[in-house]
Amino acid sequence: MCGIVGAVAQRDIAEILIEGLRRLEYRGYDSAGLAVVDSQGHMARVRRVGKVQKLAEAVEAEPLTGGTGIAHTRWATHGEPSEANAHPHVSEYVSVVHNGIIENHEPLREILMERGYRFVSETDTEVIAHLVHWELQQGGSLLDVVQRVIPQLRGAYGTVVMDSRDPGVLVAARSGSPLVIGRGMGENFIASDQLALLPVTRRFQFLEEGDVVEVTRRSVTIFDKQGNPAMRPEIESQVQYDAGDKGAYRHYMQKEIYEQPQAIKNTLAGRFSHGQIDLSELGPQADDMLARVQHVQIIACGTSYHSGMVARYWFESLAGVPCDVEIASEFRYRKSAVRPGSLIITLSQSGETADTLAALRLSKELGYLGSLAVCNVAGSSLVRESDLALMTKAGTEIGVASTKAFTTQLTVLLMLVARLGHLKGMNESIEHEIVHALQALPARIEQMLSLDKSIEPLAEGFSDKHHALFLGRGDQYPIAMEGALKLKEISYIHAEAYAAGELKHGPLALIDADMPVIVVAPNNELLEKLKSNIEEVRARGGLLYVFADQDAGFSDSEGMKIIPLPHVEEIVAPIFYTVPLQLLAYHVALIKGTDVDQPRNLAKSVTVE
Ligand code: M6R
Repeated sequence: MCGIVGAVAQRDIAEILIEGLRRLEYRGYDSAGLAVVDSQGHMARVRRVGKVQKLAEAVEAEPLTGGTGIAHTRWATHGEPSEANAHPHVSEYVSVVHNGIIENHEPLREILMERGYRFVSETDTEVIAHLVHWELQQGGSLLDVVQRVIPQLRGAYGTVVMDSRDPGVLVAARSGSPLVIGRGMGENFIASDQLALLPVTRRFQFLEEGDVVEVTRRSVTIFDKQGNPAMRPEIESQVQYDAGDKGAYRHYMQKEIYEQPQAIKNTLAGRFSHGQIDLSELGPQADDMLARVQHVQIIACGTSYHSGMVARYWFESLAGVPCDVEIASEFRYRKSAVRPGSLIITLSQSGETADTLAALRLSKELGYLGSLAVCNVAGSSLVRESDLALMTKAGTEIGVASTKAFTTQLTVLLMLVARLGHLKGMNESIEHEIVHALQALPARIEQMLSLDKSIEPLAEGFSDKHHALFLGRGDQYPIAMEGALKLKEISYIHAEAYAAGELKHGPLALIDADMPVIVVAPNNELLEKLKSNIEEVRARGGLLYVFADQDAGFSDSEGMKIIPLPHVEEIVAPIFYTVPLQLLAYHVALIKGTDVDQPRNLAKSVTVE
């Protein structure tokens, strides 16, 4: 979603701002802009609809000089993607960039219009620019004024404000949308994500909820939500911007699908000892807490929610620990009853998903035993605000459609299940089985990827279809859901997933030759049941694509295409069977000609609710 970059330096900063925006592109956006102030107080603003590259070309054609500036990529919430709605928004000498939503923008707009302000955009952000302008006229520094404006705003936001009459100062506020300060030598920076600032610094201070900060070349002065001076620790970031280029791949999504064996290896590395799962990285107190866990409550959104659904099968069947899974946006708005000894586990690639963060914050008031985040971004809000964190080591995931983040999440979750089970007296042989299956997994996925060429032609069968149905049973049901999500988000084909046993309770009515049905069929105890479900579809003229274990006893027949897959250890079959569905979605999107890495209307990091 929206991205923010700001800089205060002696050198010209337009290029730094643009490079920062490029590194936030993967989050999804529809327009971009920047404003730069030079030492004489002259402010220049450039905005473009579309890619950052268009903004870069405009700035190259008419270079901007100046050492203080703010820049933004906008993902439209209020008002269509247009130059007028793109940030920064300006009120005479005040310019503003903003992530999030100002919920009370309508009454504020009315008040400001009564005061004589004229609005030129449809955005909620423009009210901040005019409010700051109005308050500056009442007196005080930019910092004083922002501190007076913040209590007038409702909603979740991160914002950076600049006054061209006072070059060399930026003031920012965090309330529900992340901001990080980058410390340089005689220059300082601000951004919504540290990735944007890695070319200029590795020293970061993360703002906390309610913080307001004044940033100059030489100083960073932070105030907490009560207005008291606050210290935020400076950390040396270890984060790698390893997105690099796409190499031999056509898209980041394709690259990330192919990176899965290595990503899983990285996630497993250092987490085994003496044939057991070793999660001592959680710290000495963690085992005490885990040993007291009687129930697990998983909270997540989207793809991360699907990995939680798989984990539920594992927590209950392997570790014997009851587990519930809920979508964060539902959990946060309902009155839930907390089970005794319940551990809350949040799952997130980005660690900045607004609903998941809100659910975590709510859980702290509800009496959970503790919280554990499984996340791919070190230093993210979710990691910092959780009692415990286990990192997936997927590396930067750029494609909006999550792939390697999902399979590494599952990898971490299975290790956690094994550790929890161990502490709860799980049979040793099960732990050995888990360890063995995890260690074999990267090679199994390599094998799977080598079948890409046999999956690619299947995509032809989807080019003229508008709907698809995905079926699975047991721990493959969430994999069917994940397959449907992948297909719909990048190919825009409507796809639904069902637990195969549910077919006859409704969805069978949809079956005809225009509805491809994709089935995941490992060779497990539910295979015979699944075969009956497949017959139910065949009998009604449905067109089946069955990703099946090579020994599951399927063969191609009229209306049924079998894609035989190598045998895989049963425990990790959900991870393994995800990969062909990712590949299928990818190839269908190629045929459809959609924007694979940045599908329409979607954002990588969903920082507004
Ligand atoms: O960063 P998170 O894992 O918290 O993101 C949650 C969802 O927004 C995300 O998984 C989304 O569903 C993906 N685009 C799916 O591919």
